[in-house]
Amino acid sequence: MGALLQLAQEGERLLYWGAGALTLLFTLVAAFTCRLIPGLSPCYPLLGNALLFERNGEDFFKQIINNLEEFRKLPLLKLWIGPLPFVVLYHPETVEVLLNSSKHIEKSFPYKFLQPWLGTGLLTSTGDKWRSRRKMITPTFHFSILADFLEVMNEQTNILVDKLEKHVDKEPFDCFLDITLCALDIICETAMGKNVGAQNNRDSEYVRAIYKMSDLIHHRQKSPWLWSDLMYPMFQEGREHARSLKILHSFTDNVISEKACEINNTAQHKNDCDDNCGQSGPKRRRAFLDMLLTTTDDEGNKLSYMDIREEVDTFMFEGHDTTAAAMNWAIYLLGCHPEAQKKVHKELDEVFGDSDGPVTMEDLKKLHYLECVVKEALRLFPSVPFFARTTSVDCHMRGFKIPKATEVIVVPYVLHREPEIFPDPEEFRPERFFPENSRGRHPYAYVPFSAGPRNCIGQRFAQMEEKAVLAIILRHFWVETSQKREELGLVGELILRPSKGIWIQLKKRR
Ligand code: HEM
Repeated sequence: MGALLQLAQEGERLLYWGAGALTLLFTLVAAFTCRLIPGLSPCYPLLGNALLFERNGEDFFKQIINNLEEFRKLPLLKLWIGPLPFVVLYHPETVEVLLNSSKHIEKSFPYKFLQPWLGTGLLTSTGDKWRSRRKMITPTFHFSILADFLEVMNEQTNILVDKLEKHVDKEPFDCFLDITLCALDIICETAMGKNVGAQNNRDSEYVRAIYKMSDLIHHRQKSPWLWSDLMYPMFQEGREHARSLKILHSFTDNVISEKACEINNTAQHKNDCDDNCGQSGPKRRRAFLDMLLTTTDDEGNKLSYMDIREEVDTFMFEGHDTTAAAMNWAIYLLGCHPEAQKKVHKELDEVFGDSDGPVTMEDLKKLHYLECVVKEALRLFPSVPFFARTTSVDCHMRGFKIPKATEVIVVPYVLHREPEIFPDPEEFRPERFFPENSRGRHPYAYVPFSAGPRNCIGQRFAQMEEKAVLAIILRHFWVETSQKREELGLVGELILRPSKGIWIQLKKRR
């Protein structure tokens, strides 16, 4: 054990030297190539801007946001994160150059730490693998398939509503976890066809492993001494990472093999059964996994088990925390803005009347104001606070040359607050997204789902889920909050979340 510790310390020292050498190299290359791009100071050759950064996640995010506000008048900014230089984008014209291109599809270096869990699934892959996968998977998000998922969303939100009933006319409570577990149940059932019952059993091993893994990945991204794959297992975090990984992968492995058996059995049954076999059983719900097991590429090749696991794990990762945060932010903002909430209620009453029935696709289409609320909430609090690429070819942004292989990071939180495009940017005004007010807006001024060829494949799924869940909650309750923005404890890790939770009070509507 002692020897192992010594080895770890030795390794850590070596790593610091390695990181130092790398930084020097990057500094020289960047000094040569990016010398004109304005940056933060002080910036030291080996440490970059490291000494400027706050260690705590909440303070770090506050600092980045404050700095970017200060530098908004600059066309772009260079920032050193540990040994890596990043060009930071927060103006529509520069964001467009990056996202609109079919060349810059390679994800940035920190995404590498997602790979032990997600492999090279849609989010992390690049080149031909990404192109072929994206083509194969796009049809699984077809409108008719999404319509099937609405049933799951209705069922799971009804469970949430039952849980929320307990809080009616009581003290303020933190709804963040309740809403998050509902989103988790929805994605488990739609992605894998598996009901994990997280809402009623928040202590599931799989659920705990998902959260542990997200924390570990974010921590590793921020800590250069944990970057080496060789050294990582020697740290406590590395061992916890291995444990969580095992739980996550064996869970998805089991679900995939069960599902493959089920599909084989159904096919067998169909073959064995002639027309006189009688009634077929109740209609089985489709999940993304069913489609992944049967889809083929242009040459007719199916996806392997490993390929499928990558994609299912990717949906599990990208598909619940993002929507959960977005729904929480919308609830919070409506709680702060009773006049907007009244408009939502009026619309809900017009569409549903006294009915207590499930939300249908037809209903969702009519919820125009709620849709604007969802969009405005994602403007103010984009669930994915940063995303980044490595440029694949040289390009130019507002007169600056950005060389090939530069790490470039987009910050929607700042982009969405451009005062010339969104006047009084801190104000919550769903009306900004009325068609007449959105006309002519720069297409890259608002990118909560990214944009261009590598945008979010789950965007329609997410918007549908948000509208359905919020409609069901708000048909039952009136929401209030006295929590101020500065009391949210905004943290921009993998997801933009309130570290102090979302504290609301509920009143029964009818
Ligand atoms: C409000 C909810 C959501 C938001 C704000 C959101 C946002 C994003 C963003 C910004 C990206 C680009 C990330 C990057 O370039 O690094 C992305 C990619 C992606 N999202 Fe979402 N997402 C949401 C919901 C979902 C859902 C529900 C799913 C799946 C069911 C999903 C699946 C994906 C996948 C697979 C990618 C990678 C696509 C590719 O690179 O081809 N997302 N999302």
